Amino acid sequence: MVSTGSNTAEKPVGPPFWLLAELTYRCPLQCPYCSNPLDFAQHKQELDTEGWLKVLREARELGAAQLGFSGGEPLVRQDLEILVKEARELGYYTNLITSGIGLTADRVAGLKEAGMDHIQVSFQASDETVNNMLAGSRKAFQQKLAMAREIKRQGYPMVLNFVTHRHNIDQVDRIIELCLELEADYVELATCQYYGWAHENVSALLPTREQLAEAEAVTQRWRERLAADNHPMKLIFVVPDYYEERPKACMNGWGSLFLTVTPDGTALPCHSARMLPIQFPRVQEQSVRSIWYDSFGFNRFRGFDWMPEPCSSCDEKTKDFGGCRCQAYMMTGDMTQADPICSKSPHHLEHVRKRDAAAYSTQTELVYRNERTSRTFFRTN
Ligand code: FES
Repeated sequence: MVSTGSNTAEKPVGPPFWLLAELTYRCPLQCPYCSNPLDFAQHKQELDTEGWLKVLREARELGAAQLGFSGGEPLVRQDLEILVKEARELGYYTNLITSGIGLTADRVAGLKEAGMDHIQVSFQASDETVNNMLAGSRKAFQQKLAMAREIKRQGYPMVLNFVTHRHNIDQVDRIIELCLELEADYVELATCQYYGWAHENVSALLPTREQLAEAEAVTQRWRERLAADNHPMKLIFVVPDYYEERPKACMNGWGSLFLTVTPDGTALPCHSARMLPIQFPRVQEQSVRSIWYDSFGFNRFRGFDWMPEPCSSCDEKTKDFGGCRCQAYMMTGDMTQADPICSKSPHHLEHVRKRDAAAYSTQTELVYRNERTSRTFFRTN
């Protein structure tokens, strides 16, 4: 165990619990709220099969237990089944986070045989036109429906994910009905978080506070109805932090539980950290153990010594760790600032002004995530 350095509530650094393997940035869809970095097209290099196997082994040896395969679209990788097989042998609990595009009945069977534990299919909307408009693909919705059914048919629990925003949040009722039709077991209604492409499109995506409250109330009514009927479907409503007065404990604290490895082997404490002005380590050059415990990038915001005011003297810092470093950077240009979601932040009122302008904006044009629109992040605030 390594300590975080001297600070008021020093905690030893434990091992990572979650490994997120972002196998590729390639994706057949173009969602305008994708969490991939804006400059993804500049990172075309991908770890080969051996490179990923090494990451899986080293992270498991360190103690990681949950493994998510994501992207881009992880099904683009033809060696996915090899990686899943190795992960199963190493003892991970494995999750596939997929759009369902590129999936076939044979591929579901192959993943099952390799030992995949859990497959989550994401939808853009319950309405075919809106779904396909957001995905940037005319065939996406029907393929998703077919694959969701196939996953269930082959004995997996059906886990569906809907990212909600201005274009679909008023249809939560219909989304839940669709999930019932599909016999979903778990449904995640994840309100969009404004990173990556979603941040680029915030003025065309952010719902109003009233829309969010209504969507949450609808979800709660459905929960009560399902419980009264002893129905097994579970609804998870993930709230965004844009309308809060205190920030979220992002990643449960920097370098505390989460380890993300990007397609080109860059290791990050969160999936968005690539935009920060920090040189992060690469798995080709350092072992996962040394990355986790010793690297500058992973130690940069551990503990409390790095905090300026108002965080350093705040009695809530052990709960929220000063909030999200990526959000602080996007909103203020300084990654060490208190997350402006916090009402104690000197940037909070500016955040509220911009948030409300975005929520009531009449902007409809969306920037789709693709190679042509990919670019380096420039702070616009
Ligand atoms: Fe990077 Fe919150 S998303 S620290």
